[in-house]
Amino acid sequence: MQLNRDEEAILAGESGEGKRKAMELLVALGDIYGAEELVPISSAHLSGVSYKTIGEGGIGLLEEMADARICVPATLNPAGMDRSRWEEMGINPRFADRQQHIIDCYERLGVTSNCSCTPYFDLNMPKRGQHIAWAESSALSFANSAIGAKTNREGGPGALAAAIIGKTPKYGLHIDKNRAPAVIIDVEGDDIDYSMLGQAAGAIVGARIPYFRGIRPTVDQLKTLAAAMAASGSVAMYHVEEITPESNDFDLKGLEKVTIGKKEMETAREGVNTGNDPELIAFGCPHLSADEIRNLASLLKGRRRQGDAEVWFCTSRQTLASCPKEVKELERFGKLVCDTCMVVTPIEERFACTATNSGKACNYLATLCSQKVVYRDTKGLVELIS
Ligand code: F3S
Repeated sequence: MQLNRDEEAILAGESGEGKRKAMELLVALGDIYGAEELVPISSAHLSGVSYKTIGEGGIGLLEEMADARICVPATLNPAGMDRSRWEEMGINPRFADRQQHIIDCYERLGVTSNCSCTPYFDLNMPKRGQHIAWAESSALSFANSAIGAKTNREGGPGALAAAIIGKTPKYGLHIDKNRAPAVIIDVEGDDIDYSMLGQAAGAIVGARIPYFRGIRPTVDQLKTLAAAMAASGSVAMYHVEEITPESNDFDLKGLEKVTIGKKEMETAREGVNTGNDPELIAFGCPHLSADEIRNLASLLKGRRRQGDAEVWFCTSRQTLASCPKEVKELERFGKLVCDTCMVVTPIEERFACTATNSGKACNYLATLCSQKVVYRDTKGLVELIS
């Protein structure tokens, strides 16, 4: 990869050890993926926040970067606990202490510690065409697909290094021709369950870019679809005909075609349902938007709490503050949990079976949290608690 004189100087350590390490990491990534140069970015979103997922090794890396500062706005993914309700969540004090240390390390680097996977709803909204370096598979796919910003599927360290340098290696989805669809997915039926559409589609396309026809998703449904496909496959970008910004930019001639209908979504649903008696019922993967909170409040209005499973509504602090009346309605049914989610907090220490309406959570609850999983769509989950 070609570096200019300033970049060479950073790599030689002239701007400090943290920046040197960050540049070294970017150069290594660029060489692996065949990038010819670095491209300036307008923002970063960093994963690798929960103590459950990064442990002491991740803390070590953050401490090595301690003398650096980020030079573009950067936000932070969910941590392993709600910073103000961690005791209620059954988090042990040592975990809480190490978790807070991780957040402090990021704050010292200059990162905004919003601890949410939906930064595009409030603190970090990129513009179409901007290069960004985002980790968090659901958010980066949303940014590529629904906003038209340009990011690869970054890991936590790569996104952090990019935030420190203000640039990222130019390869993959930073190059327009690589953003072309590879498979057409014709969706049949109406009243689409976007989690299960994503679950089925991700399993078919893997890492390729799908082009959906026959659907008209809302913003929240786009985020649900992004999250599910990022987990059942490793989709970092998708197009929806007439909806996503670049959907008219590419020639579809000759592309493989696949149809997903009721039957395929039902098969996906059967595949993820492995339990029947949830001890935790969790909404908000990705974090609930204000519209989703309003919708839940209206679905729950006039109903009574049923069952003794614990109920969580996971969202960001910014979203929580934006709809206080509806939040009050939800509080009759469960905890409003911020800064974290059902996957990155250590639920396996308290629960064995979790219910979710998220395709992404279905995958990770089973693999990262040792959970039996009950999948229901949003209305089905509401029926479980009221
Ligand atoms: Fe967000 Fe956690 Fe789901 S980080 S996308 S709520 S697994």
